[in-house]
Amino acid sequence: MRYVMESTDEARRLLVQERTGNAREALLLTGLQQGDRVLDAGCGPGGITEMIAELVGPTGHVTGLDLSEERLAQARQVNQRHAHVRFQPADVRRTGLPDAAFDYTWCQFVLQYVPDRWDALAELARVTRRGGKIVVSEFDGFGLGNWPCPEPLREWCLRFTDALQRTVGLDVHVGRKVFHAMRQMGLAQVRVHLLPQYVIAGTADASTYLDWETRFSALEPAVAPLLGGLEDYRGMCQKYLELLADPDALKYSVLLVTEGIRP
Ligand SMILES: C[S@@+](CC[C@H](N)C(=O)[O-])C[C@H]1O[C@@H](n2cnc3c(N)ncnc32)[C@H](O)[C@@H]1O
Repeated sequence: MRYVMESTDEARRLLVQERTGNAREALLLTGLQQGDRVLDAGCGPGGITEMIAELVGPTGHVTGLDLSEERLAQARQVNQRHAHVRFQPADVRRTGLPDAAFDYTWCQFVLQYVPDRWDALAELARVTRRGGKIVVSEFDGFGLGNWPCPEPLREWCLRFTDALQRTVGLDVHVGRKVFHAMRQMGLAQVRVHLLPQYVIAGTADASTYLDWETRFSALEPAVAPLLGGLEDYRGMCQKYLELLADPDALKYSVLLVTEGIRP
């Protein structure tokens, strides 16, 4: 399975996102505790793994898992001072990890990419002990919360997200679907927390701007053909970047952090 957002800049983009995002708040809100044995499924370059390692302390343990050897190499470097962290290459759908090995399983911004995402969720439940917690953090409506968003950009944003779903299977509404999936799987005490992913009231900072440039360029080969070809695609991406720079426009996105307990 190819990770669609791959680019030479992806590790830097993810680390900035991990360090400036709301992961710490989500981890605390969902009851991560000192001494927990934790799985960070789809850990990327390890910024959140590091946060988890600090929160569980040396009496706990963290396993970071990712498909990409490159991401894992970066994650090992970021976490080199933590002896209670280890990394392993695996697919989140078939981890090869033993049953019931973790107290707390964390998975952020991964299920959005995975075609058989609910099989992956079942796998995360399998490796979590009975009474342990599975926490999935995902955005909902990513890239669509902009106002004012003049035509034709507003309509293009809808076509862009539809093209993502049809070409690379990326679901920008995955966040709202996790609650139902966890209930259907029979997880107990399923709860949802709503957190901001970002709120840009006015001009976006340089790092957000670069983040979107990287994203548009990584997705270009897959989605441009469905959106009128390269020239049209680049023109509309440019309009989106101008919207980010608009001092009078609001841009926001929410995170839905869903937790459930393995019965
Ligand atoms: C957007 S990044 C998220 C990284 C990190 N969880 C975070 O919150 O910043 C998605 C990560 O999931 C990994 N990934 C994608 N599909 C995967 C799969 N099927 N199994 C394991 N990892 C996967 C990618 O290699 C990438 O590192």
